[in-house]
Amino acid sequence: MTMEMVRGLKFCLHFSIVNMALVTIALSDSLRPLGRHTPPTGTLRVTGEFPDPFVFYSFFVKPGEPLLMKNVLKAENFPAYAKWNDEYMREKYGEEEVQVEHGKKENRSEKYYEFTLNRFLSIYNKSNLYMVHDIPKQMAGDVYLPSSLQCGGFEKNLDFSVMWFSSGETKSVLHYDGADNINCLLDGRKEFVLIDKKHKDLVERDGFEKDGTFSTVDVEKVDLDKFPGLKEAPWYEVNMTKGDCLFIPFKWYHHVHSLPGRNLAVNHWFFHLWWFNNSDCERAYSEGPLESRPLNQFTKASELELVRSQFLSIFEDKSSISAVEFLEVVRCPRASGIKMFKFLDVNKDHKLEWEELYRFKMEYVMETFHDCISALLPTYDNKGQYVDTKDEDDNIDKEDVDLSNIANIQDLKDSGDANVVLESADKYSMKIEKYSEAVVEEDDPKDDSHDEL
Ligand SMILES: *[C@@H]1O[C@H](CO)[C@@H](O)[C@H](O)[C@H]1NC(C)=O
Ligand SMILES: *[C@@H]1O[C@H](CO)[C@@H](O)[C@H](O)[C@H]1NC(C)=O
Ligand SMILES: *[C@@H]1O[C@H](CO)[C@@H](O)[C@H](O)[C@H]1NC(C)=O
Ligand SMILES: *[C@@H]1O[C@H](CO)[C@@H](O)[C@H](O)[C@H]1NC(C)=O
Repeated sequence: MTMEMVRGLKFCLHFSIVNMALVTIALSDSLRPLGRHTPPTGTLRVTGEFPDPFVFYSFFVKPGEPLLMKNVLKAENFPAYAKWNDEYMREKYGEEEVQVEHGKKENRSEKYYEFTLNRFLSIYNKSNLYMVHDIPKQMAGDVYLPSSLQCGGFEKNLDFSVMWFSSGETKSVLHYDGADNINCLLDGRKEFVLIDKKHKDLVERDGFEKDGTFSTVDVEKVDLDKFPGLKEAPWYEVNMTKGDCLFIPFKWYHHVHSLPGRNLAVNHWFFHLWWFNNSDCERAYSEGPLESRPLNQFTKASELELVRSQFLSIFEDKSSISAVEFLEVVRCPRASGIKMFKFLDVNKDHKLEWEELYRFKMEYVMETFHDCISALLPTYDNKGQYVDTKDEDDNIDKEDVDLSNIANIQDLKDSGDANVVLESADKYSMKIEKYSEAVVEEDDPKDDSHDEL
């Protein structure tokens, strides 16, 4: 049961990158491509460097704000950027087996094929093939992990890194990913349509495949009668040229279109962090300046870290969690909830700090307090198909979460004021100021509304 759930979640992430089809559709005048019905809302923030991990976390990952990093790739911080032309790839990695999709317009019902890199290279310019493949170990020495992800906890939450290679003109479906994402363009140009996750209702109102987290809208000719929500949804336009990286926050909807010509990108997914480990960055800085380093020096996170990330989303805005708050949000019988709380509260101060929430062994908690965790996560059946449990959740048995009598927890106190977040902000404030000057602030109105769980 437990592992099936994990596999289901994994499936969901993996599914978003594997299938495409060969479809050619003539553009009709009345049905325009996605994003062409209304002008873009505005432009996103732009910087000319990889931000410091603390800055990256506080200003972009935590609030869920995309960031375009212009011209950040160099031979020194991303050797593949300088090295990966066709000849080099053939000579060094030609025998690698890679996954290739047939069709540049994404169709998630289509299967993919196994090619050697050699074979792909010899025909990709004259075909509809699109390589979408996890970076193989042998190639991971050329791919560097941006300095922004090297401490604070990011480095412990790395998911897949994938290369995307074609002769251009690829078109993805409009979809979202369950993990945060930095996409770096090594060659060619890409155009993105990005829609804030807060417009979930508009995007998912019609024709949305919840199990695959994508819209069935035809991105080349949007039928606004069938997808009226998309007409109203504000969107951002991002044009990437080679050397740029783009941060796409998890749950933001995006559609990617590659322009004609050789097109090669590498992206890093990392599970969303709800807390930034400052001491980890202090440790990292004490060892010298933070520089991008080869991907093969890092370990991919366990799939269970995705489950942790989903679980911790219920505590999103809290600085620490009292037992009362904990029992309110975990939806399991009170006795199990109390047991779990006591187990997590390692320092026995009757509240949970983020340090504690990132310290426990996810595997153990999944096994031991299964009922407290499983009710919080989207449910998948054993084929990886999403089962919508929203209604059941809303009608959850009141008995189980009744907090009127909690006398059997000794010394139960609300903490309220624990401040574990941004403790050492002062130390970094110089960096933030310097950074703010570099950031091109745009006048898009901020909205405080939060996405539904
Ligand atoms: C996607 O591929 C499937 C299977 O090959 C096919 O039946 C379907 O028509 C395709 N969808 C579109 C929109 O072309
Ligand atoms: C992106 O490029 C298109 C042309 O392909 C142009 O019309 C549009 O203004 C550009 N947008 C931005 C934000 O640079
Ligand atoms: C494919 O085309 C690109 C130009 O878009 C070129 O740089 C590359 O060398 C070509 N590759 C092969 C194997 O023909
Ligand atoms: C935070 O970072 C410190 C220093 O690297 C490390 O010892 C500690 O285990 C980290 N905490 C968590 C919960 O990962």
